[in-house]
Amino acid sequence: MRGRATIHRDFVISQIDDRLYSAFIEHMGRAIYTGIYEPGHPTANQYGFRGDVLELVRALKIPAIRYPGGNFVSAYKWEDGIGPKENRPVRLDLAWRSKETNQVGINEFAQWAKDAGIEMMLAVNLGTRSIEEARNFVEYCNFPSGTYWSDLRRNHGVEKPYGVNMWCLGNEMDGPWQIGHKEAKEYGRLADETSKAVKAFGRDIETIVCGSSNDKMPTYPDWERQVLEECYENVDYISLHNYYGNSRHNSLNFFAKVEETGRYIQSVAGTIDYVKAKKRAKNDVHICFDEWNVWYHNREQDSRNWSEWDWPEAPALLEEDYNLEDALFIGCLLNEFIRRSDRVRIACIAQLVNIIAPIRAEKGGKAWATTIYYPYQFASLYGRGTAMNVSVDCPRYDEEVAQDVPYLDIAAVLAKDGKSLTVFAVNRNPDEAMEIDIALNGFEGARLIDHQVLGGNAAEARIANTSREPGRIAPQAGSRLGVSDGALTGELPAFSYNMVRLALD
Ligand code: AHR
Repeated sequence: MRGRATIHRDFVISQIDDRLYSAFIEHMGRAIYTGIYEPGHPTANQYGFRGDVLELVRALKIPAIRYPGGNFVSAYKWEDGIGPKENRPVRLDLAWRSKETNQVGINEFAQWAKDAGIEMMLAVNLGTRSIEEARNFVEYCNFPSGTYWSDLRRNHGVEKPYGVNMWCLGNEMDGPWQIGHKEAKEYGRLADETSKAVKAFGRDIETIVCGSSNDKMPTYPDWERQVLEECYENVDYISLHNYYGNSRHNSLNFFAKVEETGRYIQSVAGTIDYVKAKKRAKNDVHICFDEWNVWYHNREQDSRNWSEWDWPEAPALLEEDYNLEDALFIGCLLNEFIRRSDRVRIACIAQLVNIIAPIRAEKGGKAWATTIYYPYQFASLYGRGTAMNVSVDCPRYDEEVAQDVPYLDIAAVLAKDGKSLTVFAVNRNPDEAMEIDIALNGFEGARLIDHQVLGGNAAEARIANTSREPGRIAPQAGSRLGVSDGALTGELPAFSYNMVRLALD
């Protein structure tokens, strides 16, 4: 099989917002407790945070992290998590029918995020609560001193405000499962007024309004239209969420779901444009894809009989053993975000540790990188700069979810300093290697400096990185690509994800 592509220095899509490679973590299952926080763990630091997990997190260079939920936030009282730990109440978390000890709250999490080198993106509860609690939370976090909430923060040992500039206005408010679920108009009005209150704290503050929970919701895409009609001028982003299943175990159909995501982004972008035009608005609203991942492996943990679930503390939930096939899918999805970086400014992998996550951690035991860790890491490290418009000519296939899908999924990013070009390429074909010829127009003197390959054998599609074999799937240096006569040529193995770096100096 042959694939041709052209990358031309003058043909660009957009400047990528670094926050395209953000993450999400929720008070749920073992994400926080025994995930990032486990005071008795052998690697725990002075604050009780696991050093082994922190190390894996730091290596991802995550720009921003959304916290504390998720469905959890819709019945959460942020005030329960501040002040002396011994005085904090244990509460019932209605979203996941679990016990919340509140041993980690905003100040502990801020400490962790600082140590991890990540900016916080906080969500306010618009399920059971309203404008008042949201503005108090912002004041506690962001106001310097001299007021009730800012002085309380200082009394809690945090002198300097955090300066949190990204605020999510609730979570998945269209979902009937959400505690405090609302109708579109009702939510749009509340989001509008809450956004005004939150933005009163500073010109740099940006707010994210809830779009649909996914594109299969019966109210999608009218939810987006109605919500934006209520709040367009006062918000900066609208959220998209999507989780991908693969129950038919058909790799090509699974990979084609990325095309569906392209349509989802396009439709929401169109709705944004419609509302902007209708309102004669001057401001732009961008897309914040703040929950995305593969989610289907652990049906047993997912399909609990929740009514019989006896409010456990930090139970194992949604702990997916991701395999090679998932890693290739995630590579394609990240490529789609790069290709749509003109509209998608922020995106958050959901979640970060233990729950549908690139990082797993055993209670009292080891931590390891799942297969999806690698494409996410490569995109975060080398996908910053300018998204290039890559034209592709290669064989295509049809599947139920999408037709005319190219076997070659590709994105390219010119680094901010102009000194390197990174190509992310997935050969989705399970049976055949692909001979590629990628013309590099305007990149004279390009030299291959790194080629990392994940996979290369569809027989290993279902192999995962597990506790017993945490390193089964990991990138290997490739040897079948080269640059000659102004083109990147050679072979991409069948069923492989490839990260190719070219030096331009
Ligand atoms: O990430 C798990 C859950 O999925 C989140 O809490 C919710 O927002 C989504 O439905």
